[in-house]
Amino acid sequence: MIQFEEAILGLSNDVDSMTISKDENDDDNASTRSSITAVDSTPHDYKVKLDQQYVSSTVESSCPKVGSNDFDSLCVLGRGAFGKVLLVKHRASRTLYAMKTLKKASLVLHVNNIKTERQILEQVRHPFIVQLYYAFQTPTELHMILEYAVGGELFRYLDQEGMFSEPMASFYAAELVLALSHLHSLGIVYRDLKPENCLLDQSGHILLTDFGLSKVSLDGKTNTICGTAEYMAPEVLAGLQYDYSVDWWSLGILIYDMLTGSPPFKGNNRQKTIDGIMSKKPAMPYYFTNEAKSLLTGLLRKNPHVRLGAKPKGADAIRKHRFFRKIDWKALSERHMDPPIVPLVVSYMPYHLSLSLSYSHFACVFFRTIG
Ligand code: ADE
Repeated sequence: MIQFEEAILGLSNDVDSMTISKDENDDDNASTRSSITAVDSTPHDYKVKLDQQYVSSTVESSCPKVGSNDFDSLCVLGRGAFGKVLLVKHRASRTLYAMKTLKKASLVLHVNNIKTERQILEQVRHPFIVQLYYAFQTPTELHMILEYAVGGELFRYLDQEGMFSEPMASFYAAELVLALSHLHSLGIVYRDLKPENCLLDQSGHILLTDFGLSKVSLDGKTNTICGTAEYMAPEVLAGLQYDYSVDWWSLGILIYDMLTGSPPFKGNNRQKTIDGIMSKKPAMPYYFTNEAKSLLTGLLRKNPHVRLGAKPKGADAIRKHRFFRKIDWKALSERHMDPPIVPLVVSYMPYHLSLSLSYSHFACVFFRTIG
């Protein structure tokens, strides 16, 4: 059993990066549960590549180990492909986290996805990517304690507004360009850029989440078919080998979605959507500026080799595009540009209350549009 658990969590060949110990405080599970110290485990290969500013020095380094008994569950934040995400409160520090819980029984066929997600999140430190603080397991479940994106899904705001202005869309797209470029620089193809995975932190900055579909590939090439149909690049659907360019395609779909309220290729069924992606030109609404049309034409090229963002120019070509002319990339990377939407969070909940309260009792998230 332990071997199976360790295989899923990728522990057996990763002891260097964390301490694994029995949690003696857990009476219920004392005989079977392993708990793992916090993740502060940039593997040696990546250390040189990580910019110092992205290396976290928060709670994990001072807290020896955690298990599920250290957290109170408050409510469900969302459900994903292999489990659910709960809002939890760390009892000792009273800090809120998002806890992704995966049932081991449902993971047998997906061991690789889980290993990949955890491995990636352990390695990546970036202002626009959700941070993994801890990982541990119980006999039946795996848990990842993630940074809580208090602003929730970006697309909840899009639903309320209908569509975003070009300056708003360019702000979010630019933060995503930085997050994706960072992943690419580490050899990671994200592969699952879609509205649900773009969260906002409490200041309104993007936090990219959910790495279950990401792929680490030394040459950046891979050929597994996965992702959400509306956002999938033609080469993925065709089962061809693909690389980082698939993320730039998905970014193009996402920008189109932000500017119009829906993705460009949409049918009554999956096949119609796929047919559109494979063979149709995206319609460019009359109100798009020339900059938006040009950017989307470049990002939504069916041929990945001529797509904007493809090598040799890479993401530099995207950053220099006129659609992003108002973006100060240095200020943006330092989180010094003001987000267009600032979630205002009011917590009603007394600390001793937990579990059965619904989200609406817990916190109220407002937003105000700046630009
Ligand atoms: N839903 C999924 N992951 C989340 C996170 N980290 N924070 C808030 N909501 C989420």
